[in-house]
Amino acid sequence: MAGTAVPLRVSGTVRAPGDKSITHRALMLAAAMRGVSVIRGALTSADARSTAACLRALGVGVSPVRAGAVVRVNGRAWRRPKRSLHCGNSGTTARLLLGFLATKRFAVRVTGDASLRRRPMVRVTQPLVAMGASITLERGDGLPLRIRGGTLHAVEWTLPVATAQVKSAVLFAGLGAGVRVTVREPVRSRDHTERLLHALGAPIARRDATVTLEEAPGWLTDCPPLDLTIPGDASSAAFLVAAALVAGAGELRIEGVGLNPTRTGYLDVLARMGAVVTREALREVAGEPVGDLVARPARLVGTVVTPTEIPSLIDEIPVLAILASRADGETVFREAGELRVKESDRLALLAANLRALGVASEVVGNDLHVLGTDRPPRGNVDTARDHRLTMAFAVLGHLPRSDVRLSERMSAGVSFPRFFEILGRVTA
Ligand code: S3P
Repeated sequence: MAGTAVPLRVSGTVRAPGDKSITHRALMLAAAMRGVSVIRGALTSADARSTAACLRALGVGVSPVRAGAVVRVNGRAWRRPKRSLHCGNSGTTARLLLGFLATKRFAVRVTGDASLRRRPMVRVTQPLVAMGASITLERGDGLPLRIRGGTLHAVEWTLPVATAQVKSAVLFAGLGAGVRVTVREPVRSRDHTERLLHALGAPIARRDATVTLEEAPGWLTDCPPLDLTIPGDASSAAFLVAAALVAGAGELRIEGVGLNPTRTGYLDVLARMGAVVTREALREVAGEPVGDLVARPARLVGTVVTPTEIPSLIDEIPVLAILASRADGETVFREAGELRVKESDRLALLAANLRALGVASEVVGNDLHVLGTDRPPRGNVDTARDHRLTMAFAVLGHLPRSDVRLSERMSAGVSFPRFFEILGRVTA
């Protein structure tokens, strides 16, 4: 984009890819049920394929996870896989699957790519071991690990940090084993598992940030197979919203986006920063609020993102930091330490890459500070093959007179197939 001074125009109507969190949950639940489930609108990215591949290795029939296709999952009793289960880059695949594997009477080794092997697993193995699973980590706190499930007992677990992956793993273990589980979080994390199970009639209840699944032996295998439509991913939509906000002209509509309030913290922060992103055509799909997002160019001002807001926008901090770099004044993300253990150390890499583009940014303790500027971003960005860093910085690369050189673009396909094609289309 270097050299052009024409204001960026972002316009059109697009559809966000299927929600990643709900796709993982739907595939796994369907695989653990009996009979053929039908899943429409599933995400078809690399992460979703990692889950499908693991389920196939466990003996479950999963039809190809490809663009436009309805995914059919032939749920059955899982069998011991011949090889290690490889979760690719997907933390959600690894952690949620462990919840189900904790109930199986066979041993299996679970691993992932270099990024996933660096991510913490003890946070999920601890409650599963407390319930009765045997788990051996080959080294330190990460993958690979070996799990042998068995007869599990009820558990009441308090999480020191809000994490939907661990919460869901414990709920799935309780569901598979037919035992009562309670999970307490400091702040409520995304609640797709709870909503899906509630919509299916499971005995699940929540109070504030505590969720309890009652003892329900046989519920999972007695439950009729799923017939589910998955909403668009609010996190993927956020990159497109950001492109529309930093533009100088145009209006972008993103259709069919999941608007679960445990995921839309970024829209509240953007409203505080002066953006007008309207939610239209609101409806409900399988217990999840869904709507269209309409975004237009905006003059943004800095804000403070508080610790209690972090879980509701944890995956949007990269793109919010990018927007903060174009806002008037400073933005601070308070207590964002969880970013260190995502697909990369997002806290350090956001600050370093923003600085490389001429933006003042630093990490102080667990807080990320970003000072906005009008200067065109120019420089090299090390994406560390982290999809959300790649997509966030790609948005900046569309600004007039910018020159943002990404170290790679492939990683976007982890969560957003055809991201660059769609971004190119709406900015053309
Ligand atoms: C997810 C939960 C979050 C999020 C991740 C998906 C999920 O992780 O960052 O992209 O689907 O449950 P944590 O639970 O580790 O915070």
